[in-house]
Amino acid sequence: MLTVAVLISGTGSNLRALLDAAADPEFPARIVVVGADREAEGFAHAEEYGIPTFMVPFARFDTREEWGAELGEQLSVWQPDLVVLSGLMRLLPAGLVDAWSPRIVNTHPAYLPEFPGAHGVRDALAAGAAQTGASVIIVDNGVDSGPILAQERVPVLPGDDEHALHERIKPVERRLLIDVVRRVATGDLDLAAASADAQL
Ligand code: GRF
Repeated sequence: MLTVAVLISGTGSNLRALLDAAADPEFPARIVVVGADREAEGFAHAEEYGIPTFMVPFARFDTREEWGAELGEQLSVWQPDLVVLSGLMRLLPAGLVDAWSPRIVNTHPAYLPEFPGAHGVRDALAAGAAQTGASVIIVDNGVDSGPILAQERVPVLPGDDEHALHERIKPVERRLLIDVVRRVATGDLDLAAASADAQL
C-alpha cells in the first residue's frame, strides 16, 4: 500500500477527491497525513476522514529555508512514499525538493509548460487562449517546470471568467491526480524513471 502525504493551502477540493478515492478498499494508496502552510479550509476533509493534520505557518519563520526545514521534519515523521502538493501556494525551498524528488508531485491548472506559476488560469484567459488544461508533474526546483506525468486539454469557453474556468479544470486535475497516484502505487508509473527520462 502506497502511503501519501498531501500538502494544501486552500479549500482542498482536490484533496477531497483523493480522500474519497482512497476510501475505496481497492484503491492501492492511503493518505496518512495532510499538512498546510496556513489554517487551510481543506483540513476539514482530513478531519472528516480521521486523518492527522499538521500546520507549518510560513509567517512564523524568518526564511523559506527554515520553513521548509520544519515542513520536512513534519513530513519525515510520517515517512510517506509520496508527497502530493494539492494547491499548496508556496514554493518549496531547494533542500526540501531535493530530499523528496522524484517522490513529490504537484497538480497545476494549465497545460504545462504553458502558463506556469500561481495564476495559471488567469494567465490563460489574459492570453486569449482557446484552450488550456490540467497537468500533474514531478516537482523540481523550477516553477512548475518538472517532468510531466499526465495532462489533458480543457477548452476555454466564451464568457469564461477565472472562477468558471478553474472550476471546469479542477475535475480534470482530480481525475489526473487520482490516476497518477494509482499508477505510482501499482508500479505502472515509475517516478525515478520518469524523472531520469526528462533529463535526457
Ligand atoms: C488547484 O487548481 C491547484 O492546482 C491550484 O489550486 C487549486 C487547488 O484547489 N494550485 P483546492 O484547494 O484543491 O480546492
